[in-house]
Amino acid sequence: MRRKLAAGNWKMNGTGASLADLSELAQRYPDSAIDILICPPATLLHRAAEVTKTSGVAIGGQDCHAAQSGAHTGDVSAQMLMDAGASSVILGHSERRVDHGETDADVRAKAQTAMEAGLLSIICVGESLEQREAANTLDVVGGQMAGSIPDQSTGENLVVAYEPVWAIGTGKVPTLEQIAEVHDFMRTLLEKRFGESIGQSIRLLYGGSVKPGNAAEIFGVSNVDGALVGGASLKAADFSGIIDALADA
Ligand code: 13P
Repeated sequence: MRRKLAAGNWKMNGTGASLADLSELAQRYPDSAIDILICPPATLLHRAAEVTKTSGVAIGGQDCHAAQSGAHTGDVSAQMLMDAGASSVILGHSERRVDHGETDADVRAKAQTAMEAGLLSIICVGESLEQREAANTLDVVGGQMAGSIPDQSTGENLVVAYEPVWAIGTGKVPTLEQIAEVHDFMRTLLEKRFGESIGQSIRLLYGGSVKPGNAAEIFGVSNVDGALVGGASLKAADFSGIIDALADA
């Protein structure tokens, strides 16, 4: 059985004042039957980890460098994330692929380093609107998975998030059939590459305009083990609605 995961990606949002929402979330979930993760900006990691220390909420980073340390001004290493209290890291988000030109090879190298440091890697894949309209979705997702996911992946160190670029922050969500098609395809790819046992153990998240109002139906889709949530993870009340929908699914 795969343990369900509700993950929040705060992106470049949040200052010390946002810790009040995190504190509310931590109080609401002192422990939890599902995994709950918040990935705040790097500046808040340490304080966020303190606020959630005795709760069912874990803390993660939004990126890390492929090198363990060195002359990389402005970057953060996997070891630093661990040291700040993170247990996971989001890698290859489409915003990083676009804003920073990250390639599949870059994402794979980062994931290798993150896994070696002991972090759970949440690797993001997903097609643009143009690619979907050209009926290239499965090719794009398959290519990103082949290129970005390291060989040493297991259900313990890898989560894959399907985030169609056109659904991020737009209020547009694929149909349940479209989500099922991609998630079933991703599961098949993982089983082919890693064998049935490991392939079945790797969790698959859906991300892109998940809200309390649409979460339950998305969590009913086959091979959806949780969500990677942007905007609706910023407020404890909204994210709780999604967490509760996942726990009930
Ligand atoms: P939204 O939930 O704001 O659409 O963002 C999704 C996302 O990019 C999470 O990583």
